[in-house]
Amino acid sequence: MSKVTVVGAGNVGATCANVLVTTGVADEVVLIDIKEGLSEGKTMDIMQTANILGLNTKMVGVTNDYSKTADSDVVVITSGIPRKPGMTREELIGVNAGIVKSVTDSVLKYSPNAIIICVSNPMDTMTYLIHKTSGLPKNRIIGMGGALDSARFKYFLSQALNANPNEIEGIVMGGHGDTTMIPLTRYAAYRGIPVSELIDAETLKQIAADTMVGGATLTKLLGTSAWYAPGAAAAQVAAAVIHDQKRMITCSALLEGEYGEKDLCIGVPCILGRNGIEKIVEFDLNDEEKELFAKSAAAVHGTNAALA
Ligand code: NAI
Ligand code: 2OP
Repeated sequence: MSKVTVVGAGNVGATCANVLVTTGVADEVVLIDIKEGLSEGKTMDIMQTANILGLNTKMVGVTNDYSKTADSDVVVITSGIPRKPGMTREELIGVNAGIVKSVTDSVLKYSPNAIIICVSNPMDTMTYLIHKTSGLPKNRIIGMGGALDSARFKYFLSQALNANPNEIEGIVMGGHGDTTMIPLTRYAAYRGIPVSELIDAETLKQIAADTMVGGATLTKLLGTSAWYAPGAAAAQVAAAVIHDQKRMITCSALLEGEYGEKDLCIGVPCILGRNGIEKIVEFDLNDEEKELFAKSAAAVHGTNAALA
């Protein structure tokens, strides 16, 4: 039996729960929110969808009753406020830090062995906050950002190549912020062929820039931050853990010297399995990439300082 709890039944949380249910990732999904009736309503809607699709995953929706989340294997935290147009993820820190801290305490009271996936923004800092306040081993705290940013990168590459995005490899590492993420153009490939051999340098530069502001572009168009891909990306990370997939997905992980950095959570390629972050993959960055990563880490440290 596998059980996943999603905290926050807003746009991202409900989408994540919907993907978890409709792709049959876990035997049981619990959706919980502070807002009276919201989780119950979203659960009914999702279960009716499951019925139409002929699926039989169990899903429960509750308002603030953490006893129903007991013995979850994985908990996805999406509670908090999202960006509005013109806002950065970093501006959310004051409100979201209080929410993420109290939610983590409640979750661990009933699921002391759970693996936590943090989605709430500013995600790298919220993930670090969970490390600092929960006392959990570092493999059990995963920040979701790189899965989404890499999907956006591959989408833009596929558009330029007029190709199937599933045949494209692309990694985005660094902080999950408009100026801190690093699309690794040098490592991106289409069926093993470096994209630099298929796309001109100027277009590739534009693709990297579009990826970095991918979230802001959607926030401007939608009036709030995106949810379909973020919810699906959180479900993808949960599935990698629940099914012990040993997939390499960029996640925000606590660094202890990897890539020359320590005492922060930032996006690096991770092997995800039943024990959460089972390995951080360290590959060679060139001087320019190393400099970008150091700058990104400095910016994340700067945001973390606001937690004090
Ligand atoms: P939303 O406003 O649609 O949903 C947030 C939900 O959290 C609301 O339903 C609210 O009632 C609930 N909530 C607030 N305090 C709570 C508490 N103490 N306990 C339980 N639930 C509580 O927002 P949305 O769009 O779902 O975004 C959620 C968060 O995810 C935001 O911080 C957003 O910036 C972040 N995000 C992160 C991404 C990433 O890649 N890491 C991507 C997209 C969004
Ligand atoms: C996103 O990348 C705002 O983190 C949110 O869509």
